[in-house]
Amino acid sequence: MNRILVTGARGQLGSDLVVALRQQYGDSQVIESGRSHPQDNSSLYEVLDVTDQSQLEAIVKRYRIDTIYHLASLLSAKGEQHPNQCWEININGLRNILEIARSYGIKVFFPSSIAVFGPHTPKLDTPQITVEDPSTLYGITKVTGELLCHYYAYRWGVDVRSLRLPGIISYSAPPGGGTTDFAVEIFDHALRYGHYTCFVRPETRLPMMYMPDAIAAILMLMQADSTAITIRSSYNIAAVSFSAEELVKEIQKHLLDFLCDYKPDFRQAIADSWPSVIDDSKARADWGWKHRYDLAAIVEDMLAKLSLTNIQKQLDKDEERQATSDRRQIGVRG
Ligand code: SER
Repeated sequence: MNRILVTGARGQLGSDLVVALRQQYGDSQVIESGRSHPQDNSSLYEVLDVTDQSQLEAIVKRYRIDTIYHLASLLSAKGEQHPNQCWEININGLRNILEIARSYGIKVFFPSSIAVFGPHTPKLDTPQITVEDPSTLYGITKVTGELLCHYYAYRWGVDVRSLRLPGIISYSAPPGGGTTDFAVEIFDHALRYGHYTCFVRPETRLPMMYMPDAIAAILMLMQADSTAITIRSSYNIAAVSFSAEELVKEIQKHLLDFLCDYKPDFRQAIADSWPSVIDDSKARADWGWKHRYDLAAIVEDMLAKLSLTNIQKQLDKDEERQATSDRRQIGVRG
C-alpha cells in the first residue's frame, strides 16, 4: 500500500507532483504538508516544520505513512539570502526524514540538484561521478544530502532514491527563489507585458526540464525495482539545455513583439558555476529514463497552458468582483 507524505507540497514541484501522485494512488493516499496553513482548508494537509522531529513522527504515525517525497527545501538564491534557514531546513530537515525512514521502514524521494556541481566540474557532459565543489550554501546542503542518502541506504537499508534535478519549467505554481527561475518568469512576463528583464546574461546555458518530464522521472525512479537502483546518492538527470537567448528566440516565434533585456545580478555567478549539459546515461541505463519535451515543445505548451490559466484567473476575478458587488447591493437594500 502507498500512504504518501509530501513535504513542501505547495511549492513549484510539489504542486504538480501531488496531482500526479493522487491520480496514481488515490486522493486520500496522499498527505500534503508545508510550513504554513493553506488557504483552501484541505483535510489532507498537515502543517509541518520538517526540522521538528516529533511533529514529523506524529504525522507519520497518524497516517501510517510508508513513502515520503521530501521536497521541503530552500533553493539556491534564497539560500544565499537566508543561510541559517537554508542549513536548518535542507540539512536537519533531511536528517529527520531519514531517521524517521530508518525507524519506520519508509521509502524516500529526495530531490538533489545541478547545484551540487561547481567551477571545477566539467561543464559539458558532466559525468555521474565527478568533482562536486558547489559555490552556494544550497549546493553544499545538496552534496551533504546526497552523502546522507547514500549513508542511510547502505548503513541502515533505507530505500532512498534521488535525482539531481535541473531547472524545472512549469506553469501551475511559481518557482521559489532559484537561479533558474528566469526560465519560468519569462513566460508570464512575455504574455502579460511583452517584455522581460532577465537576471542572467543571454549566453547563459543551463540544463532545464519541463515539469511533465520531471514528474515522469520522479515516478519512474520511485516505481523502479530496487535492484535497478545502483546509485543511492543521486542520479544525474537531463532533458534539454539552452541559453537564455535561445529561449527568448523560441518565445519570439510565438509572440513576435516580445522583447527581453538583460540585467545580470548575483544569480549570474551562481549560474556560471553550474554545468551546461549533463550526462544522464546512468539513469537511462538503470531504469529507462527518457525525456519527451525539447525546447520548442516546452515553449509551445507553456504559452498555451499559461494563456489558459491567465484567462481562468481573470474569469475567477470577474466572478469574485461580481459576487462582491451583488453582496453590497443586497446589503444596501437590506
Ligand atoms: N532550480 C534550482 C535553483 O535554481 C536548481 O536546483 O536553485
